[in-house]
Amino acid sequence: MARDSLMIIGGQWGDEGKGKVVDLLSAGFAAVVRYNGGNNAGHTVRYADRRFALHLVPSGIIHDGVTCYLASGMVVDPSGLVAEMDTLMAEGVAIDGRIVLSPRATLILPTHRALDGAREGTLGSGKIGTTGRGIGPAYQDRAQRRGLRAHVLADPQLRARALALMQQHNRELELLFDAAPVDLDDALAELEGAAARLAPTLGEVGPALRRHRAAGEAVLFEGAQGVMLDLAWGTYPYVTSSSSLPGFAAASCGIGPKLLGPVIGVMKAYATRVGGGPFPSELEDEVGVRLRERGAEYGTTTGRPRRCGWFDAVAARFAVEVAGIDAVALTKLDVLDGLETIRVATAYRLPDGTTIDTFPADAELAEQAEPVLTELEGWSAPTAGVVREAELPPAAAAYLRFLEETLGLPIVILSTGPRREETLIRGDSALARELRALIAGDAPPAAL
Ligand code: IMP
Repeated sequence: MARDSLMIIGGQWGDEGKGKVVDLLSAGFAAVVRYNGGNNAGHTVRYADRRFALHLVPSGIIHDGVTCYLASGMVVDPSGLVAEMDTLMAEGVAIDGRIVLSPRATLILPTHRALDGAREGTLGSGKIGTTGRGIGPAYQDRAQRRGLRAHVLADPQLRARALALMQQHNRELELLFDAAPVDLDDALAELEGAAARLAPTLGEVGPALRRHRAAGEAVLFEGAQGVMLDLAWGTYPYVTSSSSLPGFAAASCGIGPKLLGPVIGVMKAYATRVGGGPFPSELEDEVGVRLRERGAEYGTTTGRPRRCGWFDAVAARFAVEVAGIDAVALTKLDVLDGLETIRVATAYRLPDGTTIDTFPADAELAEQAEPVLTELEGWSAPTAGVVREAELPPAAAAYLRFLEETLGLPIVILSTGPRREETLIRGDSALARELRALIAGDAPPAAL
């Protein structure tokens, strides 16, 4: 890979299919890095007939020779990480020495999970619909400067330090939320068991990435969630508690922005979101149901049905701008096969009659926005599995052109099915040529 690094991020509300894209490319990289969020993410990777649901471990893990890093800006549930390592080992993936956990990452404790559920329980119709993994409470502790960081996993004082914080959490559960406290004996046993397994994985991420670069090895950054779930730029407060923008990778890894590469924004050919919050192009009719069923739109992490809607070009253009996306990877085009008409939200109409074409800061306003829809012709010939541009039905090709013009960016990767082979690298840009070379040089993962 001529590039020093490449960034793959979600350009919508998460679940765009980043796992497949990262997996497709990662064999060409020495390092794959997760830098935000925690096990709220669910990245599905398929190889041959096998399907891996990864939540914390970067999707590069199934390729031998790729080292996987979990950077300081993450929140890491120790027992969740151990469970994922066990699953990978049971599947025959050699993980020894290939997972590196930043000692500065914040730990998620069982009491954080309880606080997440208890807080959601008080929000009524304003529920965020979190994944219940304790993400928000752990980031809250990080910002409050009372969280535990991963280096304590190797600290003889682990028990005392975790006990003090969890006792505080239990008081909050009882006093603030009238909720049952967590059994701390169980919680400590869970934590100590995981600590013994994870202590050997601790390692500073920034210096390791600099070593990769000094050796001429390329680094792939795997963003979790999506721009519209970013803490600052998403549909606040219906967002996650970390930044899902590519710039956060520099801060999270401690490397400075110069090591960050071009940004590929992964977007679905339509839109989905899980949990509460504004979704102007949402379809609550039979087309929405059809997208959910054909697209298997159920959460990888929670199994919840995803809300489905038309591609939202207002939100997508906003994401392109705030995240500095350079090119798009469009996934799940095949899910639109057979629809007579396809629509795209190109502006929003507000209750006062005005029309806007950028995403408003106020989620309540976004909630009231009606989409202005542009109609495009659908196609009946299947795009599922198509890997040559010329084989795309003309209306599908026109849809791609429309999206490219609307976003002002090339769709450089087109995914027409869940398997790695069902992918088309488009055009003749320098990036497209590099991506083709990366995939062509991809040996099957030796560990499988
Ligand atoms: P949390 O990150 O668990 O606090 O959840 C906050 C919001 O982000 C909820 O609407 C979740 O459904 C959503 N969310 C968090 N992680 C993901 C993800 O990886 N994919 C899609 N939605 C997510």
